[in-house]
Amino acid sequence: MYLSQDEERMLQGEFGEVVQRMFRLLVRLGDIYGADKMIPVGSVQVAGVSYKSIGEPGTLYLEDVASKGAKTQVITFLNPAGMDLENWKALGFPKNFAKNQLRIIDAFKQMGIIITTTCTPYLAGNLPRFREHIAWSESSAVSFSNSVIGARTNREGGPSALAASLCGRTPRYGFHVWENRQPAFHIHVESNLTYNADFGALGYHVGKIVKDKIPYFTGITNADTDQLKALGAAMAASGAVALYHVEGLTPEADLVKNEGLEKITVTKKNLDDTFDKLNEGTTPDIVILGCPHASLREIAVLAGKIKGKHLRKPIWICTSRMMKEAADRMGFSQTIEAAGGHVVADTCMVVSPIEDMGYKQIGVDSGKAANYLPGFCKQKVNFANIDRLLEKVL
Ligand code: F3S
Repeated sequence: MYLSQDEERMLQGEFGEVVQRMFRLLVRLGDIYGADKMIPVGSVQVAGVSYKSIGEPGTLYLEDVASKGAKTQVITFLNPAGMDLENWKALGFPKNFAKNQLRIIDAFKQMGIIITTTCTPYLAGNLPRFREHIAWSESSAVSFSNSVIGARTNREGGPSALAASLCGRTPRYGFHVWENRQPAFHIHVESNLTYNADFGALGYHVGKIVKDKIPYFTGITNADTDQLKALGAAMAASGAVALYHVEGLTPEADLVKNEGLEKITVTKKNLDDTFDKLNEGTTPDIVILGCPHASLREIAVLAGKIKGKHLRKPIWICTSRMMKEAADRMGFSQTIEAAGGHVVADTCMVVSPIEDMGYKQIGVDSGKAANYLPGFCKQKVNFANIDRLLEKVL
């Protein structure tokens, strides 16, 4: 792989031991995947933030990197943590977990990483442009930035994203290269899609079929950005889809080659079967929305639906701190609290230690959360649209 003079100096250790170690990792990755050179990145998003995911070894590693003075070279946002960083006590997060989670946050902060703790950085102040090279790691954020924005990122692991942040570069391979952004499947959708959950069901179904290949959708006549983030998140979870195109909606759909692809039709029955398959129980202990992290519009919709009502079971809606601030200002959070729910920032149902907080069955409207909750969090799942979920708890 070609390296510039500065990059050779990084490799020789002239910028310190941490940068040398991190850059070596990037070079190794580039060699494995056949990169021709390094490219500068416009921004980074680092996953591997929850103490539940990285445990003590990961925490010690981050503390070690931070203690050696390593600093970010480009704007870097953080994925959700394992708890609401401000309101964890009131929400019942375990004290010992909180202590360790805050060690991780401190380490990232020392490196200059912005403590945004969200999987929707594009809603919270880190919006890449079309064709910008970035190095993001959370799978739904990767899917959204590649597909809906048309930025270019591979699905980075926590360590490679951190390395990209501290070196300001990533190896040029995979989705950074135009030839690798071409679709492999034509997915024709014959069902109406109304709720965000319908897009989650579609994504779950298609991800299982296409696995890590790129789908090109037709038949989706309209979708807002919340629905596209639900679609991408579910496909990234049930398969490993990091990029998709939707005819007439996503920016590269008109540019890629879409002839001669294997065609698969998705019917209403396929989606109904997906909902059935992901419904394990009858009454949830709690409903948790906001996977991926809710937009202000999604919080407003929930507030509108439960205004003046009384919930028999709690509802959380997970979001970024920035969206919560705006929701507080607009009175949406207060409406949700008055009904017995919570707007929870910085975390989500999957990366928080929800299984240690007395919950056994969770209602979700996210195909991604429905995919992960049984395995990661030992939860039974009710996967349904927001109105069906509310019927169970109002
Ligand atoms: Fe985000 Fe957590 Fe879902 S990180 S995409 S809300 S599993």
